[in-house]
Amino acid sequence: MENRQRLIINGGRRLEGEIAVHGAKNSALPLLSAAVLAHGESIIHNCPQLTDVDAALRILSKLGCRCKKSEDTVTVDAANVTSPEIPDTLMREMRSSIVFLGSVLGRTGRCRLSFPGGCELGARPIDLHLSALELMGMEVSEQHGYLDCTAPAGLHGAKITLSFPSVGATENILLAAVTARGVTEIHNAAREPEIADLADFLTKCGAKIRGAGESVIAVEGVERLSPCEHSVIPDRIVAGTYLCAAAITRGELILTRCEPSHMNGFVTVLESMGARVYTYGGGKMYLSCKKRLVAPKTVRTMPYPGFPTDIQAPFTALCCTAEGTSVFVENIFENRFRHIPELVRLGASIKTEGRVCVVEGVQRLSGAKVRAAELRGGAALIVAALAADGVSEITGLGFIDRGYESPEKALRSVGADIRRV
Ligand code: UD1
Repeated sequence: MENRQRLIINGGRRLEGEIAVHGAKNSALPLLSAAVLAHGESIIHNCPQLTDVDAALRILSKLGCRCKKSEDTVTVDAANVTSPEIPDTLMREMRSSIVFLGSVLGRTGRCRLSFPGGCELGARPIDLHLSALELMGMEVSEQHGYLDCTAPAGLHGAKITLSFPSVGATENILLAAVTARGVTEIHNAAREPEIADLADFLTKCGAKIRGAGESVIAVEGVERLSPCEHSVIPDRIVAGTYLCAAAITRGELILTRCEPSHMNGFVTVLESMGARVYTYGGGKMYLSCKKRLVAPKTVRTMPYPGFPTDIQAPFTALCCTAEGTSVFVENIFENRFRHIPELVRLGASIKTEGRVCVVEGVQRLSGAKVRAAELRGGAALIVAALAADGVSEITGLGFIDRGYESPEKALRSVGADIRRV
């Protein structure tokens, strides 16, 4: 259902204060999928309260799991997994539902799901997921937009070399491999912290995994997994978005419950622009930005530990008022500049050409009515509006709510004039 709410932001307030970072959406979703493999009740703490997490819980319920949610703790009882089907409506609602393929197949020997298809960031194919799982004994038949995946002789280990270190494909292979017969090796695996978090969860459940977080992962299949209790890692993209928000207002921000070691890929860029960033033990980080920032050298999005594609949009917003010309090269998704025309409405000077966008820093942005067209692009509009003169109105909040838990509350607590109507 269309979200008709709007964010009203009266820009120009300097942000100052402390924000606690919530758990990572991109970790919570694969962990909820992993719970399908554990015979019994798993408990997941620090689970962000997001619409995408709600969609994952609805998928689990359709599969026959019993789920309970109390604030940021979710319990998933997967004692009985009665259906291998992910309904089309839920596949459409959240395309990362594809991460349920590996676990449902591993648990039931079958998974029926609709083709995720195109999405707001570009084609977003799943060929790497499918070809890897086929090497492990999966058979696929495609009919009427549905994929019927089965493992007639059970899943078995395989040596898989990914042509690109896809995060989702690495997760699906891990999920399928932990209870497959024999050893699976994943070469050119994604190294994102969310992969290591998934492997930590699975290991607590009894899986045998070596090398998660590195390019080569080895998994020795075990008979069966038991449930466990786990806490989701902090959301590095949400943390980075709030750092951008503070920096664009020349503010001062303390982040708590974050993991600075996951954020090097973009914190170094912030520092090169003139922001001062300090990290402390115990998941704390401090940013101070007193002067106008200077444009960074060319920023290229890369798989982890490089500059994350998910933080590109908030950074393009930040660079709108930096001194000089910033160049962003988007190497991961082909259509990730949908926020740019909206930033231009806010007074930014930006040109895009294919996968490159060039931001000429302006002195001031001015409030305008803008619309989010996808999650991180929506966050970029919030960042820009916080620094714009006058009032901005942001619609399309359904996208933002997929990945940010009440951003208006967090930002208001550090001095922003922002409300949801
Ligand atoms: C995950 C994240 C997303 C992030 C992205 C890259 C989740 C829920 N989402 O998405 O926020 O932006 O990683 O860090 O964790 N590709 C193929 N074939 C495939 C799979 C991927 O060509 O079978 C391509 C994609 O089109 C894209 C690139 O590989 O161009 C990266 O995709 P991938 O790493 O798989 O991203 P997701 O797992 O979808």
